[in-house]
Amino acid sequence: MDKAKVAGLSPIPVNVNQGEKYAWCSCGLSSNQPLCDGSHKGSAFTPKVFTAEETKTVYLCTCKATNNPGFCDGTHKSLPKE
Ligand code: FES
Ligand code: FES
Repeated sequence: MDKAKVAGLSPIPVNVNQGEKYAWCSCGLSSNQPLCDGSHKGSAFTPKVFTAEETKTVYLCTCKATNNPGFCDGTHKSLPKE
């Protein structure tokens, strides 16, 4: 698997708590989108782990094409709709 699987075409809002760590799924295989569930094992992908700087809602990428790993940057709008 060279390319990440497109898991969705819109971001998923996630409520994060300041100081807590989250692991965003970069491979697209997780059944717990947008977070990693370990399904990447055996592939070249690893989750992007980030620590929430504040308690708020963040919009995490499901299309896996974002240029700001973890976070939706709008790139999903340019992907073909299947
Ligand atoms: Fe996709 Fe872990 S399941 S990075
Ligand atoms: Fe991937 Fe928006 S869902 S860039």
